[in-house]
Amino acid sequence: MFKLAPNPFTPQSGLEPKVLGGREEVISEFVRILKNKEKGRGSHLLLLGEWGMGKTTLLKFYKKIAQSKGWYAAYVSLPKISPRERSYDVIQSLTEELCFGLGIEPQELIGTRRKNTTIFLVEFLAALYKRVHNEFILVLIDDLQNVSIMPAVVDILRLALSHEQVLRTTEYLFVLSSTPEGWEGFIKRHDPVGRFFRKKQILGKLNYPQVEMTIKETIKDSGISFKEEIIARVWEYTEGHPYELQLLCSHLYDNNIRKLVGEESWEPALVATLKDLGIEHFSQLYSRASEREREVLNVFAENRKFMTITEIRDILIYDKKLKKFPIANVKNFIYRLADKGLLIRDESKRYRILDNMFAEYILRFR
Ligand SMILES: Nc1ncnc2c1ncn2[C@@H]1O[C@H](COP(=O)(O)OP(=O)(O)OP(=O)(O)O)[C@@H](O)[C@H]1O
Ligand SMILES: [Mg+2]
Repeated sequence: MFKLAPNPFTPQSGLEPKVLGGREEVISEFVRILKNKEKGRGSHLLLLGEWGMGKTTLLKFYKKIAQSKGWYAAYVSLPKISPRERSYDVIQSLTEELCFGLGIEPQELIGTRRKNTTIFLVEFLAALYKRVHNEFILVLIDDLQNVSIMPAVVDILRLALSHEQVLRTTEYLFVLSSTPEGWEGFIKRHDPVGRFFRKKQILGKLNYPQVEMTIKETIKDSGISFKEEIIARVWEYTEGHPYELQLLCSHLYDNNIRKLVGEESWEPALVATLKDLGIEHFSQLYSRASEREREVLNVFAENRKFMTITEIRDILIYDKKLKKFPIANVKNFIYRLADKGLLIRDESKRYRILDNMFAEYILRFR
């Protein structure tokens, strides 16, 4: 018989990590929001975060917290919809999922088709609240960006939650999660939505001590250790992005030599990580850039710091000596790359590449 030491890292969307790095502040704020709700105060919550930042993980943790305090709680992830679907269908499947999440047969609560989707939702929420004997209910709705082609869905949610009958007879706390880009889409078209879901939590990357703690706590008792330089390099490459951190560390763990993750483990682990990220995210991201934009993006991949447009232009002219490059258009290429989410901009109008891992992917595989 062989005893295997299973990899303790969790590089999978929505998979609960062994250790939750950081997030103390948002979690204690959530606990305060629950308490306020119990006292009859407060508003619903919006959780924003880019891909892989830990939205699903946190929603599932919120569910556990609420349940430990005696709340009913249901988690629903919204699937991508097709333009042919109607908002009624989306809301109806949401109510069904909610019932399943609470172990209730949807037929018990969902009647025949009503004329108006908002009223349908209002009556459902009132019936569900009664069905759980007037206990507090936490509803976690994940991946709202998947319905961004149908902004009416969020507006119906707003209308139902601010409906007299729901306000007067029920006690719900809704937490909606989305990518910032997806959420922008909703508030652009429906201003009242932005005002209604005012309470916001924005998930960012972890800082260095949080990365270090996450790695050390995750490998504790595994019999495998990571050299300090390697932990520092994980930080340098991932900058504390939770998904990238889990993925890279998982590959590093698998490449340990005599139970130690050191210099020899780095290269194979990094290549494997970049290949995975390429398939899952980066190739799609890269395909947004045109041929010309890619030449500019390459400069950003090589120089991973904030730079002014003039600095980029100088590199293109003096270092790259690109032939027939329309240098007068560099500014527009940069603006477009930023619009497409491949570059980020700071307050002093300087630009840098979105992500170090993305830069590494471009240099090695493109
Ligand atoms: N605070 C954290 N500390 C350590 N690992 C985390 C943390 N939050 C999330 N993770 C890990 O990061 C990865 C991404 O988390 P999650 O799937 O929750 O993110 P998401 O924002 O929902 O991403 P997606 O864009 O895929 O929906 C998972 O592998 C998870 O285990
Ligand atoms: Mg998710």
